[in-house]
Amino acid sequence: MSTDKRKPHKHKPWAGRFLEQTDAFVEKFTASVGFDWLLYPYDIEGSRAHARTLARAGVITEAECEQLLAGLNEILREIERGEFTWETALEDVHMNIEARLIERLGEVGKKLHTGRSRNDQVATDLRLYLRAEIDVIQQAIRGLQTVLLDLASQHADTIMPGFTHLQVAQPVTFGHHLMAWVEMLERDHARLADCRARVNIMPLGSAALAGTSYRLDRRYTAELLGFERWSNNSLDAVSDRDFAIEFCAAGALIMMHLSRMAEELILWNCPRFRFVELPDRFCTGSSIMPQKKNPDVPELVRGKTGRVHGHLVALLTVMKAQPLAYNRDNQEDKEPIFDTVDTVKDCLRAFTDMLPAIRVNKAAMRAAADEGYSTATDLADYLVRKGVAFRDAHEIVGRAVKLAIEQEKPLGELPLEVLRKLSSRIEQDVFAVLTPEGSVDARNLPGGAAPAQVRAQIDSARRCTR
Ligand code: ARG
Repeated sequence: MSTDKRKPHKHKPWAGRFLEQTDAFVEKFTASVGFDWLLYPYDIEGSRAHARTLARAGVITEAECEQLLAGLNEILREIERGEFTWETALEDVHMNIEARLIERLGEVGKKLHTGRSRNDQVATDLRLYLRAEIDVIQQAIRGLQTVLLDLASQHADTIMPGFTHLQVAQPVTFGHHLMAWVEMLERDHARLADCRARVNIMPLGSAALAGTSYRLDRRYTAELLGFERWSNNSLDAVSDRDFAIEFCAAGALIMMHLSRMAEELILWNCPRFRFVELPDRFCTGSSIMPQKKNPDVPELVRGKTGRVHGHLVALLTVMKAQPLAYNRDNQEDKEPIFDTVDTVKDCLRAFTDMLPAIRVNKAAMRAAADEGYSTATDLADYLVRKGVAFRDAHEIVGRAVKLAIEQEKPLGELPLEVLRKLSSRIEQDVFAVLTPEGSVDARNLPGGAAPAQVRAQIDSARRCTR
């Protein structure tokens, strides 16, 4: 992109009341075209709808409208072919496109900006952009969920330890664990849907801040652009970026969830755990240690969470304490929004591509589930079923665990006579509940770890993620 072809003063559409040229540094300092150029498809779409609205109101003729539409289409093609020259002197995407339109069409081109300001224009562009990107991100979430559901159905019975405080707590299945991730993503998807409804509102007609004196049919413009409705207050419509902050909050939560998944993948992949092995093509080596295979992709997802969380704080702070209506502060909204969109999409894609290729080490998971007296709660529950009150059962099992630690054995390998000394209610059938399989099978209620329940969760998730 070339941006620095300096043009004389008269090129600036607002130059009329100025006596001297813009300071060269200020020109660069205030320009946004270096990043907001990527709004061009939405800027042109918005301009096309505005031109048609002007024609409908009789502000321009149908013939003029046709010329404007054709000119805008030509510019769209120029940009897409890489033939468009973006100029810093023209500040932003809006003035670059308008200046080119005037260059191409002459007098007619000068009529497009009637009844409009860059203030309602940029708010419209951003909303159109975010609406489109929300749809893409929602699709990407569905894609990752599908991969997780496939993996979960292969591993609905694969025993693994569940952790609390990163210590083995109770057995679960790998499928159950993956379904927890599916649930997190489901809420992320719903949050985006919620946010989309507040993004999908049209500012055009608000003009600079007070509305316009032309009788523009806002319903018609909104319809052309696929907006659900139009804004109720012009001051609010040109100034607030809460819809973008909300989007960044939804993005921050997606990244928070992805960072948790990343962290677990890194742990599981490390040689101490060996629960999974990440595919070589998603890892990199060390420049000095030849033996290393590093989990860079999940580490980067975890790391990139930082910048997205930062963008949320940046946007909140840009908006904080701004008086009505539009202030140039809001130009600072774009880079955080764009980077949030790009980062969230990339990270979702990284996991969607990587997860189907992981190797699952069932034996290591099963062995780990045997450690840490993970079925101690099952022994207590067993005693409760035999008529012991839970608090007493807890005490008895505590003593059993102490014995097992002393004898360096898992609970299920303590002889029956030893267990019966702790409680005479314990019988031969106790050993079935002390296995990880018995433990997960027993958790057979909705939301529980039993394979039958996990399969039911997978089926119902498949229905709603379709
Ligand atoms: N580039 C500006 C922005 O991103 C467009 C709106 C400029 N409006 C103005 N009154 N200077 O916010």
